[in-house]
Amino acid sequence: MRLAGKVAIITGAASGIGRATAVRFAQEGARVVVADINVAGGQATVEQVTRQGGQAVFIETDVAREADLARMVEFAVATYAGLDILHNNAYWTEARPALETSLENWQHTLDVTLRPVWLAAKIAAPHLRTRGTGVILNTASIHSVVGVPGYAAYQAAKGGVMSLTRALALELAPEIRVVAILPGAIDTPAATIGDAAAHEKFIASLPLKRIGRPEEVASLALFLASDEAAYITGTGVVIDGGFTTQ
Ligand SMILES: NC(=O)c1ccc[n+]([C@@H]2O[C@H](COP(=O)([O-])OP(=O)(O)OC[C@H]3O[C@@H](n4cnc5c(N)ncnc54)[C@H](O)[C@@H]3O)[C@@H](O)[C@H]2O)c1
Repeated sequence: MRLAGKVAIITGAASGIGRATAVRFAQEGARVVVADINVAGGQATVEQVTRQGGQAVFIETDVAREADLARMVEFAVATYAGLDILHNNAYWTEARPALETSLENWQHTLDVTLRPVWLAAKIAAPHLRTRGTGVILNTASIHSVVGVPGYAAYQAAKGGVMSLTRALALELAPEIRVVAILPGAIDTPAATIGDAAAHEKFIASLPLKRIGRPEEVASLALFLASDEAAYITGTGVVIDGGFTTQ
């Protein structure tokens, strides 16, 4: 059991990568706090974890609200007597080119996708620090490192997530490691590659000739969050089927 005795919060765990990671972390012995704005999806994740004999609880959380983030961290500490892993994974955007991005879209994209990475870290750090081996794991994106047209606000947010990963890693070392995962196209409700023809063309362009699975991202998250990655901080790992290496 690679996360035996650990307590993990995962935001955006009602779906996709967050749900797969909640299931994987619990299989490896973690007690998981599933935090999401989607109540039905969050409860379904908890049911999936408990059906497999794991431990998880759900807390309704809008990561754009400071009070919700504080409640989420307090709930985790009160329920499971501490906190070892904070996985900032929730996101929101409406994919638009820069010149077609509204102020509301820009603001909400950053409020959900970037700001909580800083704010949840600020709230959780005192708890993570007392463990001596705390981990903040941020879901960045290939959008953090390469330009992709049509996603201006999301791209800005994900660039910020990666920069913040480096800044926090330096400020919170040595008691807390801060690491990121940078997925490419992963098969979740969020994967927006376009119509069927655009999708086919994109898949054909990938060195590994297929889209990634959430469970594959969860395996990477598990490694980075575990003590096996104890010498990794301030950096991220790309998981994109070879897309960004071309
Ligand atoms: N799927 C991909 O191709 C891909 C690629 C790169 C990065 N990512 C990143 O992976 C992460 C997970 O995305 P996914 O693909 O699993 O998407 P998803 O849509 O399956 O899950 C996103 C989750 O975030 C939650 N959420 C949205 N707004 C929220 C809010 N205000 N407060 C709390 N929760 C909120 C949603 O309810 C949902 O459960 C995101 O950070 C995303 O940017 C995904």
